[in-house]
Amino acid sequence: MPTPSPMNVLFLASEAEPLIKVGGLADVAGSLPLALLALNQSADIVPSELDIRMAIPFHPSINAEPYSPSQVAEFHICAQDGDILTKVFSIQLDGLPVYLIAGAPIDQESAVYSSNLEDDGYKYVFFSQAALELTRQLNWKPHVLHANDWHTAPAVYSLALHRHSDPLLTHTSSLLTIHNLPYLGAMTAPALDAFGLPPARRSGLPKWARHLALPLGLLSADSIVAVSPGYSKEILTKEFGSGLDTFLKTHREKVFGILNGLDTRRWDPQNDSVLDATFSVDNLQVRSVNKSYLQRKIGLEENPNTPLLAMVTRMDPQKGVDLAVAALRLLLKSTHPLTRQLQVVFLGTGNPVLESICRQLERDYPTQVRAHIEYSERFSRFIYAGADLLLMPSRYEPCGLSQMIAMHYGCVPVARDTGGLSDTIQEISRSNQGTGFLFKNVNAKELANTIHRALKVYAQDPRTWQQLQMRGMRQDFSWGKSAQVYLKRYMALQVEKYV
Ligand code: ADP
Ligand code: GLC
Repeated sequence: MPTPSPMNVLFLASEAEPLIKVGGLADVAGSLPLALLALNQSADIVPSELDIRMAIPFHPSINAEPYSPSQVAEFHICAQDGDILTKVFSIQLDGLPVYLIAGAPIDQESAVYSSNLEDDGYKYVFFSQAALELTRQLNWKPHVLHANDWHTAPAVYSLALHRHSDPLLTHTSSLLTIHNLPYLGAMTAPALDAFGLPPARRSGLPKWARHLALPLGLLSADSIVAVSPGYSKEILTKEFGSGLDTFLKTHREKVFGILNGLDTRRWDPQNDSVLDATFSVDNLQVRSVNKSYLQRKIGLEENPNTPLLAMVTRMDPQKGVDLAVAALRLLLKSTHPLTRQLQVVFLGTGNPVLESICRQLERDYPTQVRAHIEYSERFSRFIYAGADLLLMPSRYEPCGLSQMIAMHYGCVPVARDTGGLSDTIQEISRSNQGTGFLFKNVNAKELANTIHRALKVYAQDPRTWQQLQMRGMRQDFSWGKSAQVYLKRYMALQVEKYV
């Protein structure tokens, strides 16, 4: 069996830190390829050098100037309405080659995700086709194509359709990571058609899914990876399977769960230049300076003993913002001494209805609640470093990075017991190694009771609280282990291709 040397990996994503970010996918795309690249330093792990390169769309909102982009390719992508001129620029991010792909479907809108789903379909199918064509133009043979979510799943499908007749890609395996299964690429059918990717025939996919980007990617991927072990099991159930559970169950031998890591260089309370007072597990008392700063900044009473609760989130039904507001209303109207002084800060943007219920809560409790409807990484850092509790009452959560960042910064999570939240948070009542508070059902009362339980520990048992914080901070959320698991999967795929 020939061992490919080096092993080339093409990593495709719709967003990546530090270039462009909407949510956790950007955290992952901005850190996993770098973590894989770093494995090159451990010769015992990497049998041959890993040449990993990333491609993302050159969204108009990306400012690439600081990275001195240079054009590396120019070609046309064939589409129903005529060929599309495509230009590719190359930059380096900490030694990682990154290709920025530009062309009319990408240039037209500055948002990473359009509210017009059909336009979005066109943009990402174009991007997927262009990324594959780029490998031909560069005559660079990827051994593994690693795609992420529906946006780049068409590349996996296109590869499967064409690799038998394409000498460059014949031995290319594919891996598709699922970050968010319900986003199937709802309106991708016309775009797939426009770029010559036909619906699947006689496949195990349900009929309605045979012309949608993500299902086609799942059908044709050599491996499917969900972003946490918990989520990899949940997607095989009716509740979380988005109608694909039966299909996924029949393909369960190619479904894996690999927990996301955190970029602990980017998220490091000891070296966070945004913070007034940096801190670590060894001088946790310093953290209170950040709490006071946050309270001042949001215009709430500066008091170290008042519990400060926070949410940092995309405002999406997935995240249970409505549940949080309902639970907080129950607590805020109660006269119980534990909840009388509660402070709350929301940071998020997205669904207008969810934004407005947070604003309304602020209007109703102006001395206790703040709704910051915006995207601000800087502000999120103040919150992670200063708030006492982070709420994540998600309806589902494939992995979740906010709770990991929070724990890393000494902010204790109150979260729903689901997906990656269950995998990363240990419920305090179940183990003396607890790191947070979990609740089972999508139910405001249950969430309110869980927050109440947390507030009790916070107010009545400061020593236990501090231990909770410290255990969270000591957990190893770095990519090290998971990057190795990804690498092993890449290697296994190559072995499977050659036998
Ligand atoms: P998802 O990817 O589903 O949005 P994750 O928990 O995996 O959820 O990742 C969310 C990421 O986006 C975290 O890094 C979080 O800090 C960040 N984030 C979410 N909303 C905001 C916001 N309004 N401002 C700044 N950062 C945000
Ligand atoms: C998705 C999921 C989130 C996950 C992130 C990165 O957006 O909602 O749970 O952490 O992707 O994988």
